[in-house]
Amino acid sequence: MIDNVDVTSYTHRNKVPDLFSKLPRVPTVRRCLAVLGSAVLIAWVLTWCDLFAQNAEPGDISRLTAVHLKATGWWPTKGDRSRNDYVGAAACTKCHASQAALFQRTAMARAATRAVGADSLRENPHLTFQIGSYRYQIDNSAGSNVLKVSARGSSLSTDLLWAFGAGRIGQTYVYKKKDHYYESHLTFYTVPQALDVTPGHPHTEPLSLEEGAGRRISIEETRRCFGCHTTASTTKNGFEPQTMFLGVSCEACHGPGADHVAATQSGMDELVISSIVNPARLTPAESVDFCGACHRTWQDVVSDGPTRIGTLNVRFAPYRLENSQCWKKGNARINCVTCHDPHRPLSLDPASYDSRCLQCHLAAGANKSDDHPGTACPVGIQLCVTCHMPKFRNSAMHTTFTDHWIRIAPPGAPLPD
Ligand code: HEC
Ligand code: HEC
Ligand code: HEC
Ligand code: HEC
Ligand code: HEC
Ligand code: HEC
Ligand code: HEC
Repeated sequence: MIDNVDVTSYTHRNKVPDLFSKLPRVPTVRRCLAVLGSAVLIAWVLTWCDLFAQNAEPGDISRLTAVHLKATGWWPTKGDRSRNDYVGAAACTKCHASQAALFQRTAMARAATRAVGADSLRENPHLTFQIGSYRYQIDNSAGSNVLKVSARGSSLSTDLLWAFGAGRIGQTYVYKKKDHYYESHLTFYTVPQALDVTPGHPHTEPLSLEEGAGRRISIEETRRCFGCHTTASTTKNGFEPQTMFLGVSCEACHGPGADHVAATQSGMDELVISSIVNPARLTPAESVDFCGACHRTWQDVVSDGPTRIGTLNVRFAPYRLENSQCWKKGNARINCVTCHDPHRPLSLDPASYDSRCLQCHLAAGANKSDDHPGTACPVGIQLCVTCHMPKFRNSAMHTTFTDHWIRIAPPGAPLPD
């Protein structure tokens, strides 16, 4: 679903003019670019533009996920390892009880399930929807979930195979016909508890039953879709959904763990540590890019032309966060794990984030100090995120997103993009 945004709205258009318009307002860079034609040079210049845009130190800038994936070593969504290199979360649980304790309750761990057993379909055994003369039914019976689309006296039925999304927003279904994968035209949205059109799909009456049922996704897109919502679905660069682990599991982030588990038997402490990825060692920009492998890096968004989707880019936390003054100024760097423990469910208590802000910002009345580079708030002393990280409503998706562009946000002021 996150992918639809670009697939249907802006990726396929010519990217280059967009890059121009999104460059920082540095006249020499713009003039320079007008002269340079080749993609290689543009890429090189963009790297330097990052330095302006993010005000980062050299070497610690956001990169395209595609660039991280080409480098040696592990990176989330990389699919080059063999299935035998993975052991599954149950194996990790034995030795890492504190990380594993609440993990199964996180949305990431539940980011994809089989359609059989998916909350939305189990709790709603008979769903219907209508678009013009197209009538939709999803019926849950005898261990299968059948999507039926009817119009003008004919109909098409298909078995839904997977449900994507833990359900904060909703669940979108994926099915297969012949050798092709499809994303369902309808998504079950949690807030209205009803079906509606999947983000990125047209709201107009479909042209055929096939199109009405869903959007055919290429094998590359299918891989990416599963790459972000499941673990080890692509192994040795081949798409193998039969043997994958559903959801974002330990090894989706830490990399395959078989060598690590074997190393624990060896008695060699160094090998135990070096055989598994610990993202705590990444630099701040790498760390945000790491989460951005699925949440999209600042550079991924910029290269796709964020203004094309306007305020919809509020969905991409890394892009928003790295535009914040909290990220830009001096050495102060704030990454995703400053506020989110990926091993625990998302905290919905705004007070729980105060201590994170006050790691850097002075409490009201305190004097500026080196370890607190951020100024104090003249207005509030608690519940910082309620004013500085406002929620943004997306009515087509029946949800809100939290704006990670931390800033003074007067109520009603337009969202920067
Ligand atoms: C047989 C016990 C055992 C199993 C199973 C195990 N680990 Fe570990 N793991 C350890 C030990 C021991 C260490 C080193 C000491 C420590 O940090 O706890 C470690 C360290 C780590 C670290 C930190 C490495 C570092 O650089 O500091 C990570 C991350 C990790 N394990 C992840 C995993 C994951 C993911 C799995 C499942 C694929 C897993 N472990 C399975 C015992 C185990
Ligand atoms: C392998 C892909 C992947 C990586 C890597 C990843 N995420 Fe996620 N994340 C997802 C997906 C998919 C969802 C949506 C889960 C859902 O609701 O179905 C998600 C959802 C979330 C949520 C929302 C949880 C909720 O309850 O709604 C948070 C917070 C989050 N991720 C934080 C992180 C952080 C922090 C990192 C980096 C340490 C990270 N993610 C790395 C794929 C990933
Ligand atoms: C680049 C990684 C990526 C790809 C590719 C991707 N997703 Fe996601 N998806 C995410 C992340 C991260 C989130 C959570 C943040 C958000 O909602 O934007 C998410 C959220 C969702 C949600 C909402 C989850 C909830 O709990 O409400 C659904 C549904 C979903 N994706 C379906 C899909 C489907 C279907 C595909 C493929 C056709 C797909 N996604 C492709 C990363 C991805
Ligand atoms: C969404 C990505 C993600 C997933 C999924 C994930 N982790 Fe982690 N893990 C991280 C990050 C990021 C860190 C570093 C946290 C930090 O910087 O404090 C980490 C750190 C760790 C550490 C080292 C702790 C330390 O003190 O250094 C262990 C052990 C670990 N994870 C085990 C697990 C296990 C077991 C699972 C599955 C139950 C798991 N992780 C799932 C991202 C993830
Ligand atoms: C890693 C350190 C760090 C963290 C954590 C941090 N900030 Fe900041 N923040 C800064 C720095 C540095 C600045 C720029 C100097 C200043 O204005 O204080 C800044 C600027 C700001 C500004 C002014 C922005 C503007 O456009 O003028 C606001 C508002 C703000 N932070 C709120 C917060 C809130 C709320 C949190 C917690 C959700 C937070 N910050 C977390 C370091 C941080
Ligand atoms: C300064 C604290 C802070 C940082 C840093 C931070 N988040 Fe969040 N995040 C929040 C808050 C607050 C919420 C809203 C929680 C709620 O719904 O009550 C949130 C919610 C989310 C959600 C759920 C969807 C939404 O928009 O509400 C996702 C996904 C997410 N964060 C991903 C990330 C990723 C990825 C990063 C790193 C780029 C990150 N966050 C960094 C504070 C933070
Ligand atoms: C009730 C809403 C509200 C709450 C809660 C709140 N703030 Fe603010 N904050 C504001 C407003 C409004 C401004 C702009 C004040 C102005 O420009 O005179 C501001 C300004 C700031 C600034 C910029 C100060 C400067 O000198 O430029 C920072 C930093 C900041 N807040 C951080 C925080 C932190 C940290 C917390 C939590 C401890 C917090 N805020 C809680 C509304 C709030």
